[in-house]
Parts: sequence; structure tokens; C-alpha cells
Amino acid sequence: MASPLIIVENSPHELAQTAAERFVRTAKQQVAATGRFVAALSGGTTPRPFHRLLGQCYKTDMPWDRTHLFWVDERLVPYSDERSNFGAAKADFLDTVPIPGDQVHPMPVNRPFDTGAADYQALLAREFGRWGSAYPVFDYIELGVGIDGHTASLFPGRAPERNPSAWVLAVRGGDPPVDRLTLSFSVLNRARRVSITAAGRAKADVVGRILSGRAAGLPAAAVAPVNGELTWMLDAAAAGSVNGQPR
Ligand code: 6PG
Repeated sequence: MASPLIIVENSPHELAQTAAERFVRTAKQQVAATGRFVAALSGGTTPRPFHRLLGQCYKTDMPWDRTHLFWVDERLVPYSDERSNFGAAKADFLDTVPIPGDQVHPMPVNRPFDTGAADYQALLAREFGRWGSAYPVFDYIELGVGIDGHTASLFPGRAPERNPSAWVLAVRGGDPPVDRLTLSFSVLNRARRVSITAAGRAKADVVGRILSGRAAGLPAAAVAPVNGELTWMLDAAAAGSVNGQPR
């Protein structure tokens, strides 16, 4: 994988604007090329300003009718729970943009732990199989990073997966301490484009360590799309001493 593109914006709002512009531009390019745009979204707080901009400013200037949304990870709580990643996206933009309901694929939260992982894996196989792909190759995967270097719900210090070829994993705990489902590295690193977004001073240390190659072993440092582009999108506070590049 080539070196990641690093974008640094002055403020969280400018970061959200850039994230929204890139998301929409990528969607239009992908729809023009293949007729669809298939993306996986993360949760947490960082993407919410970007997601809200999608709902406020891109109701029409985005090919929602050709967009298929999946989730990178999900906490096993009801979608109405404030910890729910899908629930947050629903509030931030899904309830206001014209995306067809059958093109929105939240992770299942109402069944046993391992069952949910297997069911979402089967859904990925079905949906990508419809598009002629034996593997889930996302056009765009949005990730965040925790101060401990986790990404998605792939946490440091965890035992290697029993089934490394699994696409969806069931994971105990994390922050918040709740069981989760998460896409695995075998899916993350198959994507055509991956963006990792970080904002705020609290992320500066982990971002600096990862981007300077001093974070071997941290999950976010293992995101390296084999045939795709990796972009880090940072605000000035999270970038610290990391220099951005012209985008
Ligand atoms: C989750 C997220 C997770 C998130 C990081 C950063 O479900 O917890 O997908 O991977 O991206 O924890 O979270 P913040 O954006 O809240 O700092």
C-alpha cells in the first residue's frame, strides 16, 4: 500500500466539511463507474458532525438512490440507545435523506452475540454476491481511532481471531463496555478507500505514534488497504506535529 494521504484541517467543522465533500465526491465517482456506491460507517463521536452535514446539506446533492450503507461496527444495544452507532446515524442523517430503506443495512443487535456476527456475514455475502463479488469489497470505509489505538471494534491486546478469514466478529467489551459486532481486518483491508478520522488533542499522541511508525501492534496501525487508498483526516489538534499534504 502506498503511503497514506494525510489531510489536516484547522477545526472540527472544517474537518467535517472536508469529510462530507470527499464522501459525496467519491460516491458520485463510484456511481458513474459502477452504478452504485457501497460504504461502511463507523460510530463514536468523531463522524457525527460529518454525518449531520450529510443530512443538512446533501439531501439532494448525493446519489442516495444508488448508495448502500453498512456498518463497520455496532454496540449490542437497542438502536434507540444513545450508545447505538446506527441510532446515531439515523438521528444525524438517515431520517432526512432519501436513501431507499432496503439499501440501509444496520448490524443486528437483537440476537445472541455469535449469531449476529454470522447473520451479518451472510448478509454481506448475499448483497455483494448480487453485485458479482465473492468478497465484501467496499468502495468506502469510514473509521475512527481510539486513544488506545483501536479502530472499528478491534481492540489492542486481544487474542488473534480464531477464524482469521471471518468478515464479521463478535467482540466483548470496549469503551463503552458493551458487546459488539465488528468488521474484521480481512474486510477493512479489502476496501477501495479507507478514511480514518481523528479530532481533538486527546488523539494527538496515538495519531502521531501511528503516522510515525511507532505504533506497531495497534489495530489502527494495521489498517492498510491492499488495493486501496488510505486517508487520514485530522483536525489541527489531533494532528499535533503531523503535517498534512495538499489534497
Ligand atoms: C465505536 C466506533 C469506534 C470509534 C472510536 C473513536 O463503535 O466505538 O466505531 O471505533 O471510531 O472509538 O471514537 P470517538 O470518535 O468517539 O473518539
